[in-house]
Amino acid sequence: MKTFSIAILGCGTVGSGVAKILLDMGSVLSERSAHPIELRKIVDLSPKKSSEKYNIPLSLFCGGGKDLTSEEASRYISEIINDKDIDLVVETIGGTGDYLLSVILDALKSKKHVVTANKALLAERGSVIFQTAKENGMTLGYEASVCGAIPIIKSIRESFTGDEVQEISGIMNGTSNYILSKMELEGIDFKSALKMAQKAGYAEADPTLDISGGDAAHKLAILIRLAFGKEIEYNDLMKEGIQNIEKEDIEFANEMNTSIKLICYAKKVEGSVIASVKPMMVKRDNLLSRVHGATNCVELINKYSGRHYFMGAGAGGPETASSIVADIVFTARYGVSVDESRQTQRLELVDTDHFEFPYNITFSTADRPGVTGLVTTAIGAQKINIDTVSHNRHNRKEAVFSVATMPCTMQQIKDAVATIRKDSPELLTEEPKAIPILQ
Ligand code: HSE
Repeated sequence: MKTFSIAILGCGTVGSGVAKILLDMGSVLSERSAHPIELRKIVDLSPKKSSEKYNIPLSLFCGGGKDLTSEEASRYISEIINDKDIDLVVETIGGTGDYLLSVILDALKSKKHVVTANKALLAERGSVIFQTAKENGMTLGYEASVCGAIPIIKSIRESFTGDEVQEISGIMNGTSNYILSKMELEGIDFKSALKMAQKAGYAEADPTLDISGGDAAHKLAILIRLAFGKEIEYNDLMKEGIQNIEKEDIEFANEMNTSIKLICYAKKVEGSVIASVKPMMVKRDNLLSRVHGATNCVELINKYSGRHYFMGAGAGGPETASSIVADIVFTARYGVSVDESRQTQRLELVDTDHFEFPYNITFSTADRPGVTGLVTTAIGAQKINIDTVSHNRHNRKEAVFSVATMPCTMQQIKDAVATIRKDSPELLTEEPKAIPILQ
């Protein structure tokens, strides 16, 4: 039986995890694949360092163990792409540049299957990659690109292929969820929680991509493409991070029996997809509100089979590597996967601001009689139905209170705020903060 041969490009935390699982579980994986599976080559700039750090035989690294320049690494990568005996290339280099894109495209054109965890590249420049895989009859495995170890890609494309995903909501960034959990459960502010996340190894030294919603948006863009069969322009996806969430927001959320979470949301409606990544107040009877720490959780609502939750580790070397190895085994066992042959259309992306949600709006106002009445009257004038008005906090020089609404759009809220500003210019001491409430 023909051996299924693999090359790994990039041997950092995830690439080394793939190598280790392939070496540790070789015979079992071969049985599961119905093919002997062999790790043939690894390209890495620092073979000796990676070999020692991750306990991987140096003989597997290209270049005889010496450190490689980028030019040398590129030459070895070209050799692998032209090697007829390599069946599958694992890309764990990372980045979104032209060179990396060309490596993946060339590998597919050279009839190699490709497995990658590169969410940024797939979200931002994925169309040409999926198209090239399809044209060349090759599998593009990307389970590891969305929520690490959670089998969400396979579930949508295999298990739910007889159904239709209608709505996705999920916690897809562990760092943000760790920070929000610390703020909620330990009563600390954003800055201290971020420091704890960095100390615990979740947040990078530059945590921008995680806390700005960018990393979560990459994952949501990939899921929208798969679940709804729609190409979206990544830059059109509305993203708002957790940087502006304050202790006060968490306290109001708690009073309303909700938890603030960074929610990736997408819903298919006639002719378009409503989607955004932004902080939402999640009702406590929704499981997502109770997912704490760095854990990820994705909720799908399907047309026929209803509600499903997928929860687990969204990051980590061995965790993410296990998803890559699953793609390798599936590809070796079944050959080309068929899901990417479905037609994808480019349809309009509408951000959730234009869609009706219940909102919690926090107002910081001058502390004098009549203010609550003025604010709620302006809200009512925009035909927004109020659900609850909180008590006023008078512990600063202004009064702070929040208004929870029945479903309305952000435009209605903006119009209400504009009226308040026009009629009572001194009343608002800060820009009101509106957070959607997820039921
Ligand atoms: N940094 C991400 C997170 C994992 O915190 O969830 C990789 O996407």
